[in-house]
Amino acid sequence: MNAKVMEANLESGLSAADSNTDDFFAAVAEKSDGTVLRGDYSKIDDQYVVKQDWDAYTPEQHALWRRLYQRQAKLIPGRACDVFIESLEALNIGDGIPRFEESSALLFKATGWTLVAVPGLVPDHIFFGHLANRRFPVTVWLRDPEEFDYIVEPDVFHDFFGHVPLLFNPIFADHLQDYGKGALKAMKLGGLGMLARLYWYTVEFGLIQSPEGLRVYGAGILSSGGEIEHCLTSPASLRLPFDVERVMRTLYKIDSYQETYFVINDFQQLFDDTAPDFTPIYERLKALEPLPANTLLPGETNLSLK
Ligand code: PHE
Ligand code: CO
Repeated sequence: MNAKVMEANLESGLSAADSNTDDFFAAVAEKSDGTVLRGDYSKIDDQYVVKQDWDAYTPEQHALWRRLYQRQAKLIPGRACDVFIESLEALNIGDGIPRFEESSALLFKATGWTLVAVPGLVPDHIFFGHLANRRFPVTVWLRDPEEFDYIVEPDVFHDFFGHVPLLFNPIFADHLQDYGKGALKAMKLGGLGMLARLYWYTVEFGLIQSPEGLRVYGAGILSSGGEIEHCLTSPASLRLPFDVERVMRTLYKIDSYQETYFVINDFQQLFDDTAPDFTPIYERLKALEPLPANTLLPGETNLSLK
């Protein structure tokens, strides 16, 4: 469950309007549950980057990371895609909260991406600017023990465990950079909501075909204790072939498992299908009503589970 509500803040309402910093904090102050963002924003630079301050993590926090890691590690074989499994092993982060600088050096050698530490959610234009420059923002704080299964904002476990391993795949890495550039462009074209849905149904909740069957590449699933099994086996959810326009029209759930998952054949498909200029697509889709999360349109087939 952990990644649903948390990424919603980032990808939809909370940050939809904040093209500048003042709007961002105004939106934060109005979070519906009355809470404020829990990160410490007092030491950010102009890109919202902070020092990780690894020495400040307590032994209890490292122990909690290990518990989170071990739960997910058991669920990964046969469910996560290959690059996730291979990169996770290479990262060697099972013993405690990783040092971002060490992992960042490994990642840079593989795909030219780096990791930057951030206090938590950041304004859209800042987030997309990092992606466009092959920097992935990772939240520094770890959830509390009471939040083992559920957390309302992305923490270091979701951001790191869920997202970083995928960045070792060169095609996915290039795609995410293009996404960042495309999102900066979409902000000017009124297309950000549509791109948020694309991000949600791919980077956060995407499934991929493999010769052995369906696998997970979405970070929101990979860092979740329950959805990783549900998404692959539950007849309660739909699994549809990935289609850019279909995805960009589809609303998503932020407080339950997804009712629809979109399945790519491989990362090249994700890259190629998102490469065309989206400007005319935004125009066309603005005229259409978005589809509820559990829609099966006439002519569509739910992919069968073997
Ligand atoms: N091709 C998109 C555009 O022209 C940009 C984009 C690339 C969006 C990759 C998402 C992912 O606007
Ligand atoms: Co995420």
